[in-house]
Amino acid sequence: MASKIGHETQPHFSPHQRIRNMSETASPCDGRPEMTQLHPPPQTAANVESLEAYQAMYNESITDPDGFWSRMGKELVTWHREFDTVSHGSFAEGDIAWYLGGELNVSVNCLDRHLKTRGDKVALIWEGDEPGDVRKFTYRELHREVCKLASGMRDAGVKAGECVALYMPMVPEAIFAMLACARLGAPHSVVFAGFSADALRDRILDAGCRVVMTADQGVRGGRRTNLKKTVDEALLECPGVDLVIVHQRTGETGPDVPFVAGRDVYMADLMAKARPYCVPAVRNAEDTLFVLYTSGSTGRPKGVLHTSAGYLVWAMMTHKYTFDLRDDDVFACMADIGWITGHTYNCYGPLANGATSMLFESTPLYPDAGRYWDVVERHGVTQLYTAPTAIRALMKYGSEPVQKYDTSSLRVLGTVGEPIAPLAWNWYNEVVGAKQCTIVDTYWQTETGGHMLTALAGVTPTKPGSATLPFFGVKPAIVEPDTGNVIEGNEVEGVLVMQQPWPGMCRTVLGDHQRYLNTYMTAYSGNYFTGDGAIRDMDGYYWITGRVDDVVNVSGHRLGTAEIEAAVVNHDACVEAAAIGIPHELKGQDIFVYVILHNGYEPSDDLAHELRDAVKEGIGSFAKPAASNIVFVEGLPKTRSGKLMRRILRLIATGEESRLGDVSTLADPAVVPAIIAAVKAKR
Ligand code: WT7
Repeated sequence: MASKIGHETQPHFSPHQRIRNMSETASPCDGRPEMTQLHPPPQTAANVESLEAYQAMYNESITDPDGFWSRMGKELVTWHREFDTVSHGSFAEGDIAWYLGGELNVSVNCLDRHLKTRGDKVALIWEGDEPGDVRKFTYRELHREVCKLASGMRDAGVKAGECVALYMPMVPEAIFAMLACARLGAPHSVVFAGFSADALRDRILDAGCRVVMTADQGVRGGRRTNLKKTVDEALLECPGVDLVIVHQRTGETGPDVPFVAGRDVYMADLMAKARPYCVPAVRNAEDTLFVLYTSGSTGRPKGVLHTSAGYLVWAMMTHKYTFDLRDDDVFACMADIGWITGHTYNCYGPLANGATSMLFESTPLYPDAGRYWDVVERHGVTQLYTAPTAIRALMKYGSEPVQKYDTSSLRVLGTVGEPIAPLAWNWYNEVVGAKQCTIVDTYWQTETGGHMLTALAGVTPTKPGSATLPFFGVKPAIVEPDTGNVIEGNEVEGVLVMQQPWPGMCRTVLGDHQRYLNTYMTAYSGNYFTGDGAIRDMDGYYWITGRVDDVVNVSGHRLGTAEIEAAVVNHDACVEAAAIGIPHELKGQDIFVYVILHNGYEPSDDLAHELRDAVKEGIGSFAKPAASNIVFVEGLPKTRSGKLMRRILRLIATGEESRLGDVSTLADPAVVPAIIAAVKAKR
């Protein structure tokens, strides 16, 4: 927890608190009828013949990974120089590398190599905030835009190896920027444009960026956000930034869109003067492609680092097989490029595969709950990829908004970000998919680069709420939380780990390799620790039960309790704060914060409001807790060694104090009834 009177003694996770007591039920599958509901795929796949073919391919990927990934690497990637060594390193050493000796440029793989065969194919369809506000780019056009931007950036001094920060709305220029960085060999660090100025500042400083790319304003759900203004605020404390490239999304001028002469340039001006061809930088397989910040259980967000060749292979493979990719598909990933889903499934996977990729600027509810289906009809979308939180929001409106449109082009429906409850799964399957689509529930993480557990469309029989089976090269295991012993067999529950390295995994945490080792490699030595709990059912299918550490998932946005607490404690009134996640009907989880005030401050609604604003300022509006979820307390439940008992805080917040059990070993057991009373008073 964050505290001004400071101590940081608690271990970084305590999974045993979150895994069901094994003796509570005979099997973790008891009382879950969905676990026996196998849905055979309603169509066949183009890329894998059958479940048996998947199994044979999967077995090869596990028993002969080098042979398998060598073949895939040669088949999928256009190399400047082919690799010598397929894989290197181990989890234990934390020195994983793939395709050593190989040289390539990722933008060449996404663009140049398609020009001969599909130069006139649409690469990118942009659907703007207003329905029907559409821009399309063929591969040839996209190549030209990316080249112009990359040339302009090179003219402006951007060098291979320097990290460029992107704070962009969902516009084609964001994709130009990512690919231009890739072309120059300058890793990008995309910061979700919903983050606050403080959060942006921290990420710019952490990666030592000199160049920031942004837009004047963002447009979403009929509203504008002043992105450039936020950038300027962040840059007040980033003396190292001397170039800001501004895309004019709205063209607005005036006080809401500041412009600093000498430092800021318009993207269009930069591109207008630049050569329309840009020589790609030759990159080594293990050179950094991008950094992406994500939250962990402790401390500040970490810059997860992905490299070039392995990530590219993973993005292409998963995009092709999970979504049963075909030539004429229109692939619509509704994520934001600020998250890993946007990186892998709006940009790198589809474009490297030569597919048509959609970029969606708006929301599922703008102007009404029919928006997705309107988009599907107008563009003939074949695969729709979204998050359970969007599905839950849409479900509330029933089937009518879906049925107003012709959605018969859909073949695959994807979900990602959090477990999807059977109710939402069935709605997606029946109402949206008319039982004619495969639901692919894709389990993965920022760190994994792409899908880890997922059905393959047209191949894997599905179950409502299960991420089903491992992708090629993924060797999952379930371990006992306390001992780390592998639990064999089916109908078991524990912590999910991966036993074998895969090409798409992140290689380090920017500037802090020790943190990478501590977070992923040492908790269950010899394995990659996911941070999630899982059940393996009677058929060997995986069911993610949620994070076992202090990571909260709000509407698919991953947040660490530590960063929320740090934001709250930033307020003068606050001595100490403890944040937890509690279940929320639409968002999946919501943030709940217990706050201890300094002497002289009195609890009040106004103060609660200020503390919520502190979270907004420290992280972003999307993280702001509900007013009812700020509770003032006098003390927090801690062990005698000072470890905060979040389990107790969670049970109290959800009204389950009857399940608390023995609290007498706490340093001060009297805090418990006081906290219960404070929470009750809020209801
Ligand atoms: C965490 C990773 C992967 C891109 C979006 C989120 C949860 C993700 C699923 C799923 C159950 C899921 C996990 C994971 N998660 N997908 N299909 N079923 N849980 O990436 O922000 O890095 O978050 O999201 O808890 O650890 P992320």
